[in-house]
Amino acid sequence: MEKLLVRGGARLRGTVRVNGAKNAVLPILAATVLTPERCRVAGTPRLRDVEVMAAILRGLGVEVETQGDPAGEGRLITVQAREVSGCEIPDRLMREVRSSIFLMGPLLARVGRVKMSHPGGCAIGPRPIDYHLRGLERLGARITERHGYIYAEAPAGLRGAEVDLDFPSVGATENLIMAAVLAQGLTVIRNAAREPEIVDLEMFLNSMGARVRGAGTHTVRVEGVAGLHGAEHRVIPDRIEACTLMIAAVATRGEVTLKDVIPQHVQAVASKLREAGAVVEEEAGGLRVVCRCRPRAVDFKTLPYPGLPTDVQPQMMALMCGAEGTSVITETVFENRFTQAEELRRMGADIRVDGRTAVVRGVPRLSGATLEATDLRNCAALVIAGLVAEGSTVVERVEHLDRGYQDFELKLRRLGADLRRVRA
Ligand code: UD1
Repeated sequence: MEKLLVRGGARLRGTVRVNGAKNAVLPILAATVLTPERCRVAGTPRLRDVEVMAAILRGLGVEVETQGDPAGEGRLITVQAREVSGCEIPDRLMREVRSSIFLMGPLLARVGRVKMSHPGGCAIGPRPIDYHLRGLERLGARITERHGYIYAEAPAGLRGAEVDLDFPSVGATENLIMAAVLAQGLTVIRNAAREPEIVDLEMFLNSMGARVRGAGTHTVRVEGVAGLHGAEHRVIPDRIEACTLMIAAVATRGEVTLKDVIPQHVQAVASKLREAGAVVEEEAGGLRVVCRCRPRAVDFKTLPYPGLPTDVQPQMMALMCGAEGTSVITETVFENRFTQAEELRRMGADIRVDGRTAVVRGVPRLSGATLEATDLRNCAALVIAGLVAEGSTVVERVEHLDRGYQDFELKLRRLGADLRRVRA
C-alpha cells in the first residue's frame, strides 16, 4: 500500500501534456482480437488497467508487445491475435478491471464462445452488465450463468439485429459494436452512448475494414463484414485527465495550459469552471485555465456525454468544498458515487448527501487530514482537496490513481505542487 503526502497551498502554474485516453484504449485493445493481423495502437497511457488488459490478451494466446511511443510520452502497443487459443478470462483479472467485459463481444465474434465471471472495477455502486448480455442475446448469442460464471456461445456466428438500450451505456454500446462488426447483416443500436471514446473505437474498427456509422450520435449502424485486417491507430487524449487538471488549476487559483487536449471534449466542464469564475480559453494547440480569486459555488448534474461526466464529479465536489456559496450536485449516472464526501468532511468540508444529491456549503479553508481513497476518481478528488488545504494531507491507498492517471504526481509537481509518494 502506498500513500501520498501533500502539502497544500501552492498555486499550480505551467504547461502540462494530457496522455492518451484510458477509456478509449481499453475497448480498442479488446477490438484487436477481431483480426489475425497485426494492430498497432499508439499514444496508449502507462496505466494499471492497460497492463491488466494486456495480461488478459496474453492469457488468450495473443501476442502483445509494448514499447515507448516515439511520438509522445505514452506507449506503442503492438497486438497480434494470430490465433486465439483460449476463451476463458481468469477470475482474478476480471475482478481487477471492469473493462475485461469488453472482450465478450469481440471473442464471441472471433471464436464463438466465452467464459468469464462478473467484472470488477471501481467501487461506485452496483455495475450490472445486463445491457451487454441482453444486447448480445439479440445478436444471437446464447448466454447462461452457472456457479458465478457467464457462458456465452454463438457457434453458428452472430446475426445483425436491432438493439434498444434502456440507458446510453458506454460499455454496452462499445461491446455491441465490436460484436456486430463480424456479424451477418445489419445491426442498429438505438439510445447508444455518444462518448468521444466510442467515436475513437469506430475510427479504429473502420480502419480495420469494418463498416460502422453513427458513433457520436444516438443511433449506431454496423454492417457486418466477412473479415477484418490489421490497422494502426493513435488514441484520443484523455478528457477526464484533462478535466481533473483543469479543476486542480482552478481549485489552487493557478494558471495552467493543457496541451494535447480536444477542447470540444471538455466543453461541459469548461463552462462550469467559467461559471465558477475561471477563465478557460483555447490557445494554439491547447487550453489555458486561469483562476485568480476564490471560485464561486455552482450547481451541476452528471449526465452522459455531452453532459458533465460522472468521472469528474468527485473532483468538482472537491473544488466546491472551498468555493463561495452553496452547490447542489446531482449524480444521475451511478449510485453510490459520493464516497469522497466522507473523507472531505475530515478536512472540514460541509457536505450533506441525500441519495443522489449532495449539498456542499463552501468553507473558507479546508485543513489537511489523513484520508483513504477507495476508487480512482475519488482518489483524484482527495489529492485536489489536499492541494488547497491548509497544512499536510495524507492520502492512503493512492495506488488507485495508477489505474487511470499516468505520472499524475510528477505532472502536479512540475506545476509547482508539493507532494510525494511513500510506501505505507
Ligand atoms: C464507462 C467508463 C467509466 C464511466 C462510465 C460512465 C470505460 C472503461 N469506463 O463505464 O469511466 O464512469 O462509462 O460515463 O469506458 N448499466 C446497467 N447495465 C449495464 C451497463 C450499465 O445498468 O449492462 C448502468 C450502470 O450501472 C450505470 C450506467 O448504466 O449506472 C452507465 O454505465 P456505463 O455507461 O455502462 O459505464 P461503463 O461502460 O461501465
